[in-house]
Order: sequence, then structure tokens, then C-alpha cells
Amino acid sequence: MRQYLKRAEKLLKQINELATISEQSGAITRTYGSEAFIKASQQIKNWMEAAGLDTYIDNIGNVRGKLTCSNPEAKTFVIGSHLDSVANAGKFDGPLGIVMGLEMVSQIDKNKLPFNIELIAFCDEEGVRFHSTYLGSKVVAGSFDKNNLKTKDASGISLQEVIISMGGNPDKLCEDAIKPDDWLGYFEIHIEQGPVLYERNIPVALVTAIAGQNRIEVMFKGVAGHAGTVPMDMRQDALCCAAEFIISVEKYANKHKKEIVATVGKLHIPNSASNVIPGLVTCTLDLRSADEAMLFSANIAIKNMCRDICQKRNVLMDWHQVQNTNPVTCDVSLNNLLNASIERAGYTVIQLVSGAGHDAVPISKISPATMLFVRCFKGISHNPLEDVELKDIAASIHVADIFLQQLIQQQK
Ligand code: GLV
Ligand code: MN
Ligand code: MN
Repeated sequence: MRQYLKRAEKLLKQINELATISEQSGAITRTYGSEAFIKASQQIKNWMEAAGLDTYIDNIGNVRGKLTCSNPEAKTFVIGSHLDSVANAGKFDGPLGIVMGLEMVSQIDKNKLPFNIELIAFCDEEGVRFHSTYLGSKVVAGSFDKNNLKTKDASGISLQEVIISMGGNPDKLCEDAIKPDDWLGYFEIHIEQGPVLYERNIPVALVTAIAGQNRIEVMFKGVAGHAGTVPMDMRQDALCCAAEFIISVEKYANKHKKEIVATVGKLHIPNSASNVIPGLVTCTLDLRSADEAMLFSANIAIKNMCRDICQKRNVLMDWHQVQNTNPVTCDVSLNNLLNASIERAGYTVIQLVSGAGHDAVPISKISPATMLFVRCFKGISHNPLEDVELKDIAASIHVADIFLQQLIQQQK
């Protein structure tokens, strides 16, 4: 255990170093394409180079490091996680998987590899800037939708413009995909972001599936008016309408809490003032379920609810589905290997379904994929209090080493 703890200390130092690279002072915020994002990309690229990888930044902004084996026919095993963050984030969500990948590749005998390895720090998993997730991993999986290039951020800058500003070529995104036949598999290490491992006092878990995710932007169009003069029963208040919608979403999700979770995380009231009746409000809706049919029916039910509330209040509704990702299952054969690795490292194996989204989602459409979860403090995530104990990082290094060694043996 001592050797793993020592290695874990090095990883924690790197995580702390990345945590200092932020677009906000006193908080970790690293959204896609920001100055802090570019600085962090460069730092990761330097670490990849120091680990002996052939590195480059692709057109969308993924940082990529390759170890190429001597067999020209060999497939590629990808290890990845994301470098972007939510606003006021914790330091482990994303970076843990990147530095774990660096640590894994730095341990192997590079001359005896039976397959290629590529470590990827994905550029946009959180989707904070453009509200749509997995931009980088979709490019690598060959499923990026070029229509997304026109999407604009809150200040009116398009994805296409961000790519160009970072030196990428939007017309060449398809050249950055790993071809379907070239994938050997995909492995991602991530904090659990939920309380199960913490409650059960277990350091790591095997992920069997990842919940599907809908992201919707809802616009409520009422009529702006004078707060002092328009009688209460003559108002078309977009904010009150949004408020009723938000509470209905919570009630619906509570009623179906075994199958779905639903969140309104963002509310925008343009031109708001204390003496103006809000005429326009937009809000986001994040809807998730591991059950595809339930996700579909919840989306329809909530949309109908929204329509009814708007009709009752004489407010117009604009329902814009930004993202629809179905639930995915992890690969049985890679999961068996990871299961055996956890056991060999001496830990109890528990299986979890991830409610959080991960780059493994688009990649599992094209390649076998597996994920290892690492315990985090009380399951807290998307919060600066996010924390992981050194001994749990050490445990995951132990498991990851065994996993990669077993994969190498299997492919020889
Ligand atoms: C990413 O963390 C997500 O699940 O939204
Ligand atoms: Mn996250
Ligand atoms: Mn994450």
C-alpha cells in the first residue's frame, strides 16, 4: 500500500495544480474554450509529453497523447476523462481520471505493448458553455453533429468561433475521430459523485450502466409590465409561470423518484428589475433515468404539464430539446476484467449505475467501455467541498495497474 500512497500523493499534487487554473479567483471554473481551459490543456499536454506520449491538441480542443506499438495492425485502447468543469466546481470531477491515466501509462513497459494506448483529456463533458454535453468525446467517437457548430454561448459566440479562436479547424473535426475498427476499448476513472461508496465504506466500484440524459431549454414568453400599475389578475408574468413549472417538475420527479431525477439548474430573466413584471424567462431542465422508456415518457409528461401551466397563465412556451442521450450499458467483457482486478487488489466489488453523465456514453456507442468509480466525501460533487481521500486514490491506482496489466496479458 505504501508505494500506492506515494504515487497517490503525486497525483494529488497534479490535481491541486490543475485546481489553481481557473477563470474565477477563489473558485474552480474551467469552461470549454476559456483562457483557463487553454492553460490547463497546455499543462496536461506537458505532463503527457513528460510521460513519453506523442501529444497534440485536436481540432475541438481535446488533449491527446499516444503510445504506438510496433504492430501496424494493432488497435487502440483509450483512457480518458474531461478537463472542463462546472462553475465553482470541485477539483476531482474530471481531473482525477486524467492524472490516473497519466499514472497508468507511466508504469507500463512501452516496448512490449500489444496494442496502442491513447490518453485523452476531453474538452467539454459538462456542457456549461453551450448546454450540450460530450463535445470532445463525440468528435473522437465520430458522432459529432456539425449543426452544433452554430450554437451560441450566453455572449453570442458560436462554437465554430471558439474552435477557430483556439486554432482548430471546424471543417476537420471528422479527421479527429478514431475509426470504428481501431477501437480496442475505453476506460474511465471518475469519482462516484454519489453517496453509496461513502455509506458502505468501500473505496472503488464497478460501473455497469450510465443513465440517459435529456437537456431542455424552456422559454416562457409573457408580457413585461409596470409592477405598480398592472392589476394582479391582468398579468402575464413569465417568472411566476416558470416558478410554477419548476415546482411541478419537482413534484413529478418526486412521484417517480425510483426511476427519474429532474433538475432546473439555471434561470435567466433578461432585463430584470424589482419594478418590472418579468416578460421573458428561460430555464434549463435536466432530466435523467437509467430506463429509456421512462426517460421518454417523463419528457412528454413534463412538456404537457408545462403547456398546461402556460395556457392557464396566458404565457407562451418554447420547448427546445438541446440534448437527448439514451442510457448505456458498460461492456461485459471489460467489466469482468475490471471486476477481477478489483478483487485481486483485495476490495469488495460493488456494481453501480451512474446517474452522472460521462464521456464513456458517446464512446460506448462505438467501442467496448468500462468505468471505475472512486469514493468521494459524502458523495458531494459539483461543489467545492468535493473531496477524495489519499488512500482511495491509492486503491484506484492499485486496481488500475492490475487492470491494464491483465489487459496487456490478454491481448498478447
Ligand atoms: C456531468 O457531470 C453531468 O452528469 O452533468
Ligand atoms: Mn461533472
Ligand atoms: Mn465528470
